[in-house]
Amino acid sequence: MDLKKKYAVLSEYNEQAEKGGGDERIKKQHQAGKKTARERILQLLDPGTFNEIDKLVTHRSHDFGMEKKKILGDGLIAGYGKINGRLVYVFAQDFTVFGGTLSRANADKIVKIQKLSLKMGAPVIGLNDSGGARIQEGIESLAGYADIFYNNVISSGVVPQISAILGPCAGGAVYSPALTDYIFMVEKTSHLFVTGPDVIKTVTHEDVTKEELGGAATHSTKSGVAHFTGKDEAHILMMIRELMSFLPSNNLEEPPVKVTTDPSGREEPSLQDLVPDDPNKPYDMMEIINKVIDNNHFLEVQPQYAENIIIGFARFAGKPVGIVANQPARLAGVLDINSSIKAARFVRFCDAFNLPLVTFVDVPGFLPGTSQEFGGIIKHGAKLLYAFSEATVPKITIITRKAYGGAYDVMSSKHIGADVNFAYPTAEIAVMGPAGAINIIYRNMLDEEEKAKAVEDYREKFANPYKAASLGYIDEIINPKDTRKKIIGGLEMTQNKRKSNPPKKHGNIPL
Ligand code: HXC
Repeated sequence: MDLKKKYAVLSEYNEQAEKGGGDERIKKQHQAGKKTARERILQLLDPGTFNEIDKLVTHRSHDFGMEKKKILGDGLIAGYGKINGRLVYVFAQDFTVFGGTLSRANADKIVKIQKLSLKMGAPVIGLNDSGGARIQEGIESLAGYADIFYNNVISSGVVPQISAILGPCAGGAVYSPALTDYIFMVEKTSHLFVTGPDVIKTVTHEDVTKEELGGAATHSTKSGVAHFTGKDEAHILMMIRELMSFLPSNNLEEPPVKVTTDPSGREEPSLQDLVPDDPNKPYDMMEIINKVIDNNHFLEVQPQYAENIIIGFARFAGKPVGIVANQPARLAGVLDINSSIKAARFVRFCDAFNLPLVTFVDVPGFLPGTSQEFGGIIKHGAKLLYAFSEATVPKITIITRKAYGGAYDVMSSKHIGADVNFAYPTAEIAVMGPAGAINIIYRNMLDEEEKAKAVEDYREKFANPYKAASLGYIDEIINPKDTRKKIIGGLEMTQNKRKSNPPKKHGNIPL
């Protein structure tokens, strides 16, 4: 073969691979409001940085006439490139080729990417759009899934793993995204469920649509499976880039610093009257967060799920942190099963990836009730306690108002290892709220008037931060206008923190 022909062969192969399932199926994909796998990767990465791996891989199946149907790349596009100039690995299932289904050959491509990402210490992003196991390959496809799951687990806490659901993702296939750190879903065109509507109808006789069962709205509000949702694919891909800007490439790196114009010493006088005098009046904790972080820039995680706790990423003096905050504007900021689980997982992520934790506290306690107790609030609340206690990253805590009972201990208190504990003058730190306390101490002993006085006395005596400060449990009572300055000071003081827990195989978090 002469040289010219050799180059022509290469072009021909590349062209074939890039066509995927062909024009007709690409058109169908577009008509369904979806981009092709290749379009998605190119939009996700910095222009001109994508390097494709295993473009010419084909499946090795000989059943059901599959030996006559081979498409270069086998329905999966994999490789590496850059986001904001930093290396990431990426794979995208190509729905135009056998419905993006998982074959032995394309599972091996994903595993190769996973192993490279682990070895080179760079994040891996998976763009999912697939009919699941390639039925013609049977058990070989299941084996492929298991290999991917295994590598998800081994990579957990070493490199960030991100999943976007951009089409169907059903059956056991859901478990790879579930094992990754963050799941993105796109409204209307993405669906995630273990068993679909037809099986549900047969087994439980329930009627449910795909969208109700496993659409973006369901997973971002009801199940808490999705962390971010976007109105379309472009929005999702942009959000992934945004998330990456807060994360280090691996667990041995510090998160990337961004130059900021927001002065570290900026005072915020409006915070002085943000927390209401009346302890029963709600206010929006998001306002405090937005006013103290760099340039109001907050990337909230799971914004529509368990809204009584806020979690997300922000920067102080250019350095990324994880923020955890009770939200008094929702259920009075109470801790319940869902909010405990939501925050605990986030705290563990931040600890794994060297993101300091800044915790804002206004919590009346744990939510009472049979549904919480029967649902296991004991073990779920313990998750948050466990997560904060084991976290060795710098931990800064600000009590803005209520910090009552066990919830005071849980919310990154001094006792479980916080490094810097601030309180506002409006803080109320006590074993329980005044009314509850008086009911117990003077059960049936006081008339209404006496009770009101006792409540007031209790509030006067205990519902403040001074007892805690006198015991050294609070390091400093700060003027709210200085919150930003104080947090940045705390982060600077703790930036070389060295702390490790005793060596062990792993702890036993109450799952
Ligand atoms: C092989 C499949 C396939 C599959 C889809 N296709 N699913 N091929 N194995 N699992 C093929 C179709 O034959 C079709 O090929 C192309 O993909 C596109 O599919 P359509 O049905 O035309 O697309 P659409 O109408 O958009 O429907 C998409 C779908 C549907 C909702 C995903 O195809 C579907 O329900 N598929 C079956 C899904 C399923 O039951 N998977 C479970 C497998 S078991 P042509 O050539 O016509 O374009 C499993 C267990 C995993 O996943 C366990 C892991 C531990």
